[in-house]
Amino acid sequence: MDMKKNDLPYIDEAKLQYDYIEKAKQYVKAESERLGRPLFASVITFGCQMNARDSEKLAGILEQTGYRLTDSEEDADFVIYNTCTVRDNANQRVYGRLGHLNSLKKKKPHLKIALCGCMMQEQSVIEKIRKSYRFVDLIFGTHNLFKFAQLLVTMFDNAFVEDSSENIPQKSVRGSMVIDIWKETDRIVEDLPVSRKYSYKSGINIMFGCNNFCSYCIVPYVRGRERSREPKEILREIELLAADGVVEIMLLGQNVNSYGRNLENPISFAQLLREVEQIDGIRRIRFMTSHPKDFSDELIQVMKESSKICHHLHLPLQSGSNRILRKMNRRYTKEQYLELVRKLREAIPDIAITTDIIVGFPGETMEDVEETIDVVKQAAYDNAFTFIYSKRTGTPAAAMEDQVPEELVHPAFDKLLKVVQETAKERALLLKGKVMEALVEERNEQDASLVTGRLSNNMLVHFPGDVSDIGKLMMVSLDECHGFYYTGRRIEKKR
Ligand code: 5AD
Ligand code: SF4
Repeated sequence: MDMKKNDLPYIDEAKLQYDYIEKAKQYVKAESERLGRPLFASVITFGCQMNARDSEKLAGILEQTGYRLTDSEEDADFVIYNTCTVRDNANQRVYGRLGHLNSLKKKKPHLKIALCGCMMQEQSVIEKIRKSYRFVDLIFGTHNLFKFAQLLVTMFDNAFVEDSSENIPQKSVRGSMVIDIWKETDRIVEDLPVSRKYSYKSGINIMFGCNNFCSYCIVPYVRGRERSREPKEILREIELLAADGVVEIMLLGQNVNSYGRNLENPISFAQLLREVEQIDGIRRIRFMTSHPKDFSDELIQVMKESSKICHHLHLPLQSGSNRILRKMNRRYTKEQYLELVRKLREAIPDIAITTDIIVGFPGETMEDVEETIDVVKQAAYDNAFTFIYSKRTGTPAAAMEDQVPEELVHPAFDKLLKVVQETAKERALLLKGKVMEALVEERNEQDASLVTGRLSNNMLVHFPGDVSDIGKLMMVSLDECHGFYYTGRRIEKKR
């Protein structure tokens, strides 16, 4: 495996990659001439918002090299899976779909297949793919995504040996899988192309990696140490997005509350938000994910004063039992968490709070789950994502002795889920009859006479409208509650 690290200063890196885009273009052009039609690429995202943003970067580079983008794997000449490994079922989904890609490739031998993302940072995964999925053309990881254009050239170079010209760098391995995984990086490459999925909203990375080492979590091992982007780079990117019609932004990081601490000129996340607030054209600001242990009073104050920060907060709880929280290395107690929720609700009464919960952590008993259920009731979550604990090799929790067999977890999981759903329903009902601002996201899939809008609190509302409304903010009355969403009607002119 190629573990080398390129030591060029990163300012030059983007330029270098643009040169590779030019080289890749030649290959795409040649292949498209051979087939007598444009080439299509499909980037399939597994996992979180961070991965979704990475996929937009991959798509940006693919578009620049001449590919057209498609959502359909069947129609694609190049399929890229941007993978997740946070729980084992994410890995299994990838293996399952790879089987399908293999049969596609048998029918369409020129099909190229690339794998990237968190799952590829695991040595055992690479070994398995090398052995059992030999039809994969390219594999890279989370730390070198910025050199995708370069890797494309290497991949093409491998595949079309007879076409290689002096312009295209020669490669040592021919006709085999190209694998380039870095163990870690301290670099952030700016200014690469991005192809946004939505015209009106966008994610923005503010930091990469994670230093928290929650004992169950594989993210610090696959995404590396925490690195914050310079505020001026973030603000510049948001200004450009605003100029391009983006009205809603989501600031992304594994733990946004520790943003900026390690910069040469440290700045807090709250201070960054204050600056983002000033950017004209941006109407809504979201962020994720927040770690409860780092949530400052300054941040609550900024959220309270802001007219743009959405009244929604995703605040992962993981467990309500102090004993389990300690074993998870979460560094807060049930009481501290609930106090934070109290302060948030006091400052922003209509805030919606959502969470993540893990059931079946090593050593967890029904008593512990009851503690979690108690927090769900007290915190009154608008929604909670509940997960069954998944053992991730290499994490401290995987080495703990008292692993709980999955079948024993189900009753506790079901009990928790029931409370979560009841609480969410009660919370949703509180909005009935209210008039709120919705950002229209898309045409309703079931009923073409409706559009779907998102409220500041993240709730969805379906109401009569058409495609020309997409990307606009409108006042909508919330008439009928359907559990997790509303139907309603527009009550004012477009804003
Ligand atoms: N098992 C189950 N759930 C996990 N998560 C992270 N690691 C694991 C694991 N090993 C959940 C956490 C996190 C969310 C993104 O995924 O709840 O907040
Ligand atoms: Fe999956 Fe976590 Fe990686 Fe996101 S950061 S893709 S959730 S493993």
